[in-house]
Amino acid sequence: MFLEDKIREFLEEHTMPYKELMAYYKCAMMEVETKFKVLSEELSLEYDRNPIEAIKTRLKSPESIIGKMKRRKLEFSAENIEKNIYDIAGVRVICGFPSDIYTLSDAFLKQDDIKLIERKDYIANPKENGYRSLHLIIEIPIFLHDEKKLMKVEVQFRTISQDWWASLEHKIRYKKDIVHTEEIARELFECAEKAANLDNRMEQIRKYLESAE
Ligand code: GTP
Ligand code: MG
Repeated sequence: MFLEDKIREFLEEHTMPYKELMAYYKCAMMEVETKFKVLSEELSLEYDRNPIEAIKTRLKSPESIIGKMKRRKLEFSAENIEKNIYDIAGVRVICGFPSDIYTLSDAFLKQDDIKLIERKDYIANPKENGYRSLHLIIEIPIFLHDEKKLMKVEVQFRTISQDWWASLEHKIRYKKDIVHTEEIARELFECAEKAANLDNRMEQIRKYLESAE
């Protein structure tokens, strides 16, 4: 077989199922985003303040999917993506205070169409480098014209300060031209600790003001 035919065959085999699958993940991501928008509306009526500062969504790029599959020695196919990669659809919920994270994630997980697959609490147990966030892998149904499909979505909850720390740490980590000394790692860790301390102090102020009302 000529190379061109091989490429055509490969694309025919993979492109449509891949495009379809990505569309399903996008739908699941939209469903999750809407759920948080609904919670945000409702909670801001009840508490007179919005617990959600921002919601960000992202679909994993083909490059990162291929990279992850190579690292895990998985053959590229839509089926293998669906079975093995749980962070194709990502939703990040940025909150004002640490307690908002648990209020929101509890309210979200209580919904009867959401199934919890995995929960990692890097706020209660920060990573060694100082990283803090609450991670959930959940399954949510999407309703297509002739079937219901369960799709996995990764949801990350962070406070504003946890989010800027993670964004900067991520940028620094992938800067290839700087040497990653122990000193930088220690500095980053200390910044994370300080940020967590500020988060808790701000939460105390909020609680004090609420109790004084
Ligand atoms: P992945 O294979 O990368 O998904 O790791 P995992 O399966 O062990 O999942 P984990 O829940 O630990 O991390 C998933 C995601 O959280 C990553 O893709 C990042 O978006 C984020 N994350 C985890 N650890 C760190 C970290 O140390 N720094 C930053 N900036 N982000 C992190
Ligand atoms: Mg990931």
